[in-house]
Amino acid sequence: MSNKRNEESWDKLASYYKSAYIISVENYHYNSFGPGDNELGIIGDVQGLDILEIGCGGGQNAIVLAKRGAKSVTGIDQSENQLRFARQLAESQGTQATFLKSDMEDMSAVADSSFDLVVSSHAMNYASDINRVFNECSRVLRPNGRIVTCMNHPTWIVLGEALQEDDFAKIVNYFDETKQKWDWNKYKGDKIATFESSEWQLNQIINGLISAGFCIESLTEPRGYALEEIEKLPSDAMPYRNSDYTPEEFIRASTVIPVTVIIKAIKKE
Ligand SMILES: C[S@@+](CC[C@H](N)C(=O)[O-])C[C@H]1O[C@@H](n2cnc3c(N)ncnc32)[C@H](O)[C@@H]1O
Repeated sequence: MSNKRNEESWDKLASYYKSAYIISVENYHYNSFGPGDNELGIIGDVQGLDILEIGCGGGQNAIVLAKRGAKSVTGIDQSENQLRFARQLAESQGTQATFLKSDMEDMSAVADSSFDLVVSSHAMNYASDINRVFNECSRVLRPNGRIVTCMNHPTWIVLGEALQEDDFAKIVNYFDETKQKWDWNKYKGDKIATFESSEWQLNQIINGLISAGFCIESLTEPRGYALEEIEKLPSDAMPYRNSDYTPEEFIRASTVIPVTVIIKAIKKE
């Protein structure tokens, strides 16, 4: 169920998060310094679809989908401050989107069978029970509705920090299922907030979707852009990046192993 610490922490972090990252409103993002949906083409045609974004944060992905011609876009998040920024951004972009406070594990404010597509980017790792989230997604989707969700890739979970710090003592035990309690620090600065999250194993994600009535349609493991590529990219080809510095170790590691796994699944009739 909703984690009060995470809710308070996202409220505290929201303003820093908005200033520390440059997030596109023209290209749906999956992870920092990697390709977006304009390049990967996973979401497909959204014309005429009712779309729900889970853990919408500052609303950028919801706004992209509204601009791509969705019939309606609704974003839910547990943080009022994130939602406030999302509403302001949608208004400044002249786009129609509704942003609601809701826990992704209990979306009782959302009616059954009311959406054609559910999307979520790097939010489901904050859930206490991933199965509950997938069951809720299935409930709010119409038959043949789809989900596109992305989370940290298992390889990144195990090796990401070790590769970035060139320290193989930092390899993480993939089988450790205890919740991680961790601090979000300013770049070279103080701690802003403390979070509790889970790194879901691939079997938990895939089997959770299957148990909730989904058929997997695709699994994508995007390679991050190399430093040399980034210099030549058009501005929107990399829809998520830091505003105040270039994390070279992160970028190098993300060209060797995938940071993110993106799964697309369809709800069986
Ligand atoms: C890393 S941010 C990602 C935001 C956005 N999807 C993006 O990619 O920019 C995670 C978001 O999930 C939200 N969140 C965390 N736990 C949640 C929960 N149980 N229910 C709804 N939203 C939640 C947080 O408030 C935060 O805005």
